[in-house]
Amino acid sequence: MEQRRVRKAVLPVAGWGTRFLPATKAMPKEMFPIIDKPVIQFIVEELLDAGVENAIFVTGRHKRPIEHHFDINTDLERHLEEAGKEEILENIREISHMINPIYVRQKQQLGLGHAVLTAEPAVGSEPFIVSLGDIILEKGSENIKKMLSLYNRFERSVIALFEVPEEEVGKYGIAKVREIEDDVLLIEDLVEKPSPEEAPSNLAIVGRYIFTPRIFHKLRDTKPGKGGEIQLTDAMKLLLEEEAIYAYRIEGKVYDTGNPLDYLKTVFEFALRREDIGEELLSFMTRLISKQSQLIDKP
Ligand code: G1P
Repeated sequence: MEQRRVRKAVLPVAGWGTRFLPATKAMPKEMFPIIDKPVIQFIVEELLDAGVENAIFVTGRHKRPIEHHFDINTDLERHLEEAGKEEILENIREISHMINPIYVRQKQQLGLGHAVLTAEPAVGSEPFIVSLGDIILEKGSENIKKMLSLYNRFERSVIALFEVPEEEVGKYGIAKVREIEDDVLLIEDLVEKPSPEEAPSNLAIVGRYIFTPRIFHKLRDTKPGKGGEIQLTDAMKLLLEEEAIYAYRIEGKVYDTGNPLDYLKTVFEFALRREDIGEELLSFMTRLISKQSQLIDKP
Protein backbone atom coordinates (compact mmCIF):
# COMPACT_ATOMS: atom_id res chain seq x y z
CA MET A 1 0.00 0.00 0.00
CA GLU A 2 1.21 3.49 -0.82
CA GLN A 3 2.36 5.42 2.20
CA ARG A 4 0.03 8.20 3.33
CA ARG A 5 1.80 11.52 3.81
CA VAL A 6 0.94 13.63 6.86
CA ARG A 7 -0.91 16.63 5.43
CA LYS A 8 -3.18 17.77 8.24
CA ALA A 9 -2.82 19.14 11.73
CA VAL A 10 -5.45 19.34 14.45
CA LEU A 11 -5.22 22.31 16.81
CA PRO A 12 -7.52 21.91 19.83
CA VAL A 13 -8.40 25.45 20.90
CA ALA A 14 -11.79 24.98 22.58
CA GLY A 15 -10.63 24.96 26.23
CA TRP A 16 -11.99 27.35 28.86
CA GLY A 17 -8.61 28.82 29.74
CA THR A 18 -9.56 28.63 33.43
CA ARG A 19 -6.01 29.38 34.59
CA PHE A 20 -6.32 32.83 33.01
CA LEU A 21 -9.83 33.84 34.10
CA PRO A 22 -11.24 36.49 33.99
CA ALA A 23 -9.04 37.43 31.00
CA THR A 24 -10.33 34.40 29.10
CA LYS A 25 -14.02 35.02 29.81
CA ALA A 26 -14.54 36.51 26.35
CA MET A 27 -11.06 36.16 24.81
CA PRO A 28 -9.31 32.94 23.74
CA LYS A 29 -6.03 32.31 25.54
CA GLU A 30 -4.61 31.23 22.19
CA MET A 31 -4.87 34.88 21.12
CA PHE A 32 -2.76 36.15 24.04
CA PRO A 33 0.17 38.05 22.58
CA ILE A 34 3.82 37.27 22.91
CA ILE A 35 4.48 41.02 22.53
CA ASP A 36 2.60 41.48 19.24
CA LYS A 37 2.09 37.99 17.86
CA PRO A 38 -0.63 35.70 19.24
CA VAL A 39 0.50 32.35 20.63
CA ILE A 40 -1.57 30.44 18.05
CA GLN A 41 0.33 32.09 15.18
CA PHE A 42 3.60 30.61 16.47
CA ILE A 43 2.01 27.16 16.35
CA VAL A 44 0.67 27.69 12.82
CA GLU A 45 4.02 29.04 11.57
CA GLU A 46 5.80 26.01 13.00
CA LEU A 47 3.47 23.72 11.00
CA LEU A 48 3.82 25.77 7.83
CA ASP A 49 7.61 25.75 8.04
CA ALA A 50 7.42 21.97 8.36
CA GLY A 51 5.27 21.80 5.18
CA VAL A 52 1.85 21.21 6.79
CA GLU A 53 -0.74 23.67 5.44
CA ASN A 54 -4.08 22.15 6.44
CA ALA A 55 -5.02 23.24 9.94
CA ILE A 56 -8.15 21.89 11.59
CA PHE A 57 -9.05 24.07 14.57
CA VAL A 58 -11.32 22.48 17.16
CA THR A 59 -13.04 25.57 18.48
CA GLY A 60 -15.75 26.47 20.94
CA ARG A 61 -17.69 29.44 22.24
CA HIS A 62 -15.67 32.72 22.40
CA LYS A 63 -13.10 31.41 19.92
CA ARG A 64 -14.14 33.55 16.95
CA PRO A 65 -11.08 35.88 17.24
CA ILE A 66 -8.94 32.92 16.09
CA GLU A 67 -11.02 32.66 12.90
CA HIS A 68 -10.77 36.41 12.34
CA HIS A 69 -7.02 36.33 12.84
CA PHE A 70 -6.42 33.92 9.95
CA ASP A 71 -9.07 35.54 7.73
CA ILE A 72 -8.82 38.48 5.29
CA ASN A 73 -9.67 41.86 6.82
CA THR A 74 -10.27 44.15 3.84
CA ASP A 75 -11.12 47.20 5.97
CA LEU A 76 -7.89 46.95 7.89
CA GLU A 77 -5.91 46.37 4.69
CA ARG A 78 -7.48 49.44 3.06
CA HIS A 79 -6.75 51.53 6.14
CA LEU A 80 -3.10 50.46 6.22
CA GLU A 81 -2.78 51.05 2.48
CA GLU A 82 -4.16 54.57 2.78
CA ALA A 83 -1.92 55.26 5.75
CA GLY A 84 1.10 54.10 3.73
CA LYS A 85 2.00 51.44 6.32
CA GLU A 86 3.46 49.04 3.78
CA GLU A 87 5.45 46.79 6.07
CA ILE A 88 2.64 45.92 8.48
CA LEU A 89 0.20 45.65 5.56
CA GLU A 90 2.37 42.97 3.98
CA ASN A 91 2.51 41.13 7.31
CA ILE A 92 -1.28 41.32 7.77
CA ARG A 93 -1.85 39.97 4.24
CA GLU A 94 0.60 37.14 4.81
CA ILE A 95 -1.30 36.01 7.93
CA SER A 96 -4.61 35.82 6.05
CA HIS A 97 -3.09 33.54 3.43
CA MET A 98 -1.00 31.42 5.77
CA ILE A 99 -3.10 28.29 6.00
CA ASN A 100 -6.17 26.50 4.73
CA PRO A 101 -8.22 26.53 7.92
CA ILE A 102 -11.09 24.24 8.80
CA TYR A 103 -13.06 25.08 11.93
CA VAL A 104 -14.84 22.28 13.78
CA ARG A 105 -16.98 23.14 16.78
CA GLN A 106 -16.66 21.11 19.97
CA LYS A 107 -20.07 21.59 21.53
CA GLN A 108 -19.09 20.46 25.01
CA GLN A 109 -15.64 20.69 26.55
CA LEU A 110 -15.29 17.06 27.60
CA GLY A 111 -11.50 16.92 27.48
CA LEU A 112 -8.54 16.97 25.10
CA GLY A 113 -9.24 13.44 23.84
CA HIS A 114 -12.83 14.42 23.04
CA ALA A 115 -11.58 17.53 21.20
CA VAL A 116 -9.32 15.43 18.98
CA LEU A 117 -12.16 12.99 18.30
CA THR A 118 -14.35 15.94 17.23
CA ALA A 119 -11.89 16.56 14.37
CA GLU A 120 -12.34 13.05 12.93
CA PRO A 121 -14.73 14.00 10.08
CA ALA A 122 -12.23 16.63 8.90
CA VAL A 123 -9.19 14.35 9.24
CA GLY A 124 -10.67 11.19 7.73
CA SER A 125 -8.55 8.05 7.67
CA GLU A 126 -5.19 9.79 7.34
CA PRO A 127 -2.29 10.17 9.75
CA PHE A 128 -2.30 13.63 11.33
CA ILE A 129 -0.46 15.96 13.68
CA VAL A 130 -1.89 17.33 16.92
CA SER A 131 -0.34 20.60 18.13
CA LEU A 132 -1.39 22.08 21.43
CA GLY A 133 -1.50 25.84 21.67
CA ASP A 134 0.05 26.17 25.13
CA ILE A 135 3.61 25.47 24.19
CA ILE A 136 5.97 27.29 21.86
CA LEU A 137 9.12 25.46 20.80
CA GLU A 138 12.37 27.26 20.14
CA LYS A 139 13.11 24.88 17.28
CA GLY A 140 9.50 24.31 16.29
CA SER A 141 9.56 23.24 12.65
CA GLU A 142 12.89 21.38 12.98
CA ASN A 143 11.31 19.22 15.65
CA ILE A 144 8.15 18.64 13.61
CA LYS A 145 10.26 17.66 10.59
CA LYS A 146 12.17 15.11 12.67
CA MET A 147 8.91 13.71 14.03
CA LEU A 148 7.58 13.45 10.47
CA SER A 149 10.65 11.54 9.34
CA LEU A 150 10.20 9.11 12.26
CA TYR A 151 6.58 8.68 11.18
CA ASN A 152 7.60 8.14 7.56
CA ARG A 153 10.10 5.49 8.62
CA PHE A 154 7.85 3.44 10.91
CA GLU A 155 4.32 4.55 9.95
CA ARG A 156 3.39 4.59 13.60
CA SER A 157 2.37 7.35 16.00
CA VAL A 158 5.12 9.60 17.36
CA ILE A 159 4.91 11.57 20.61
CA ALA A 160 7.22 14.46 21.52
CA LEU A 161 8.69 14.45 25.02
CA PHE A 162 10.87 16.72 27.14
CA GLU A 163 12.47 16.41 30.55
CA VAL A 164 10.84 18.20 33.46
CA PRO A 165 11.92 18.57 37.10
CA GLU A 166 10.38 15.91 39.33
CA GLU A 167 8.14 18.42 41.11
CA GLU A 168 6.49 19.32 37.78
CA VAL A 169 5.42 15.83 36.60
CA GLY A 170 1.88 16.48 37.88
CA LYS A 171 1.40 19.18 35.21
CA TYR A 172 1.90 16.83 32.25
CA GLY A 173 1.31 13.43 30.70
CA ILE A 174 4.36 11.34 31.61
CA ALA A 175 5.89 8.54 29.52
CA LYS A 176 8.05 5.53 30.21
CA VAL A 177 10.32 4.84 27.23
CA ARG A 178 12.77 2.21 25.96
CA GLU A 179 15.61 3.01 23.56
CA ILE A 180 15.68 0.48 20.69
CA GLU A 181 18.47 2.11 18.70
CA ASP A 182 20.37 5.40 18.83
CA ASP A 183 17.76 8.14 19.22
CA VAL A 184 14.85 5.78 18.51
CA LEU A 185 12.62 5.40 21.53
CA LEU A 186 9.51 3.34 22.04
CA ILE A 187 6.78 4.29 24.50
CA GLU A 188 6.20 1.59 27.10
CA ASP A 189 3.69 3.30 29.37
CA LEU A 190 1.86 6.59 29.83
CA VAL A 191 0.22 8.31 32.81
CA GLU A 192 -1.71 11.57 32.71
CA LYS A 193 -0.60 14.06 35.38
CA PRO A 194 0.78 11.57 37.94
CA SER A 195 1.97 12.37 41.43
CA PRO A 196 5.80 12.21 41.74
CA GLU A 197 5.42 8.72 43.34
CA GLU A 198 3.27 7.40 40.46
CA ALA A 199 5.39 8.96 37.69
CA PRO A 200 7.24 6.33 35.64
CA SER A 201 9.91 8.91 34.63
CA ASN A 202 10.35 12.66 34.27
CA LEU A 203 9.71 12.66 30.50
CA ALA A 204 6.67 14.84 29.82
CA ILE A 205 4.42 15.00 26.77
CA VAL A 206 5.10 18.39 25.23
CA GLY A 207 1.94 18.85 23.14
CA ARG A 208 3.17 17.72 19.71
CA TYR A 209 1.90 14.37 18.42
CA ILE A 210 1.60 12.48 15.13
CA PHE A 211 -1.16 9.88 15.14
CA THR A 212 -2.23 7.03 12.93
CA PRO A 213 -6.02 7.28 12.36
CA ARG A 214 -6.42 4.25 14.65
CA ILE A 215 -6.34 6.70 17.57
CA PHE A 216 -9.95 7.69 16.73
CA HIS A 217 -11.17 4.14 17.50
CA LYS A 218 -9.35 4.26 20.79
CA LEU A 219 -10.73 7.71 21.64
CA ARG A 220 -14.23 6.34 21.20
CA ASP A 221 -13.41 3.62 23.77
CA THR A 222 -11.78 5.99 26.25
CA LYS A 223 -13.66 6.53 29.50
CA PRO A 224 -13.37 9.81 31.44
CA GLY A 225 -10.06 9.85 33.34
CA LYS A 226 -8.11 12.52 35.24
CA GLY A 227 -10.40 15.42 36.15
CA GLY A 228 -13.42 13.53 34.76
CA GLU A 229 -12.21 14.38 31.22
CA ILE A 230 -11.68 12.18 28.17
CA GLN A 231 -7.91 12.25 28.09
CA LEU A 232 -5.79 11.89 24.94
CA THR A 233 -3.10 10.20 27.04
CA ASP A 234 -5.57 7.46 28.06
CA ALA A 235 -6.48 6.81 24.41
CA MET A 236 -2.76 6.57 23.58
CA LYS A 237 -2.42 3.98 26.31
CA LEU A 238 -5.17 1.93 24.64
CA LEU A 239 -3.49 2.38 21.25
CA LEU A 240 -0.29 1.02 22.76
CA GLU A 241 -1.99 -2.38 23.20
CA GLU A 242 -2.35 -2.59 19.42
CA GLU A 243 0.37 -0.52 17.78
CA ALA A 244 3.85 0.62 18.73
CA ILE A 245 4.15 4.32 19.58
CA TYR A 246 7.48 6.05 19.08
CA ALA A 247 8.85 8.80 21.29
CA TYR A 248 10.82 11.81 20.16
CA ARG A 249 12.91 14.00 22.45
CA ILE A 250 12.36 17.68 21.72
CA GLU A 251 15.46 19.70 20.81
CA GLY A 252 15.87 23.28 21.98
CA LYS A 253 13.92 25.23 24.57
CA VAL A 254 10.30 24.67 25.49
CA TYR A 255 8.22 27.76 26.37
CA ASP A 256 5.05 27.10 28.30
CA THR A 257 2.37 29.78 27.95
CA GLY A 258 -0.41 27.81 29.66
CA ASN A 259 -0.34 29.53 33.06
CA PRO A 260 0.21 33.17 34.10
CA LEU A 261 3.74 32.80 35.51
CA ASP A 262 5.19 30.75 32.63
CA TYR A 263 3.37 32.98 30.14
CA LEU A 264 5.04 36.07 31.63
CA LYS A 265 8.46 34.40 31.64
CA THR A 266 7.97 33.60 27.93
CA VAL A 267 6.92 37.16 27.11
CA PHE A 268 9.96 38.62 28.92
CA GLU A 269 12.38 36.22 27.27
CA PHE A 270 11.06 36.97 23.80
CA ALA A 271 10.93 40.72 24.50
CA LEU A 272 14.51 40.86 25.75
CA ARG A 273 15.63 39.29 22.47
CA ARG A 274 13.87 41.88 20.34
CA GLU A 275 16.04 44.50 18.67
CA ASP A 276 13.42 47.25 18.92
CA ILE A 277 12.57 46.96 22.63
CA GLY A 278 15.02 44.50 24.22
CA GLU A 279 17.63 46.96 25.42
CA GLU A 280 15.19 49.44 26.92
CA LEU A 281 13.23 46.68 28.62
CA LEU A 282 16.44 45.31 30.14
CA SER A 283 17.42 48.64 31.67
CA PHE A 284 13.87 49.18 32.93
CA MET A 285 13.85 45.73 34.52
CA THR A 286 17.29 46.19 36.03
CA ARG A 287 16.11 49.42 37.69
CA LEU A 288 12.90 47.75 38.84
CA ILE A 289 14.72 44.77 40.32
CA SER A 290 17.23 46.91 42.17
CA LYS A 291 14.40 49.05 43.63
CA GLN A 292 12.52 45.91 44.61
CA SER A 293 15.55 44.34 46.30
CA GLN A 294 16.22 47.58 48.22
CA LEU A 295 12.66 47.35 49.55
CA ILE A 296 13.16 43.70 50.52
CA ASP A 297 16.53 44.47 52.18
CA LYS A 298 15.00 47.19 54.40
CA PRO A 299 14.30 45.90 57.89
C1 G1P B 1 -2.23 18.41 28.00
C2 G1P B 1 -2.05 16.87 27.97
C3 G1P B 1 -0.78 16.46 28.69
C4 G1P B 1 0.41 17.22 28.10
C5 G1P B 1 0.16 18.74 28.15
C6 G1P B 1 1.28 19.49 27.42
O1 G1P B 1 -2.52 18.81 29.31
O2 G1P B 1 -3.19 16.28 28.54
O3 G1P B 1 -0.59 15.08 28.57
O4 G1P B 1 1.60 16.89 28.82
O5 G1P B 1 -1.07 19.07 27.52
O6 G1P B 1 1.11 20.86 27.51
P1 G1P B 1 -3.11 20.30 29.66
O7 G1P B 1 -1.91 21.21 29.72
O8 G1P B 1 -4.04 20.65 28.54
O9 G1P B 1 -3.80 20.16 30.97
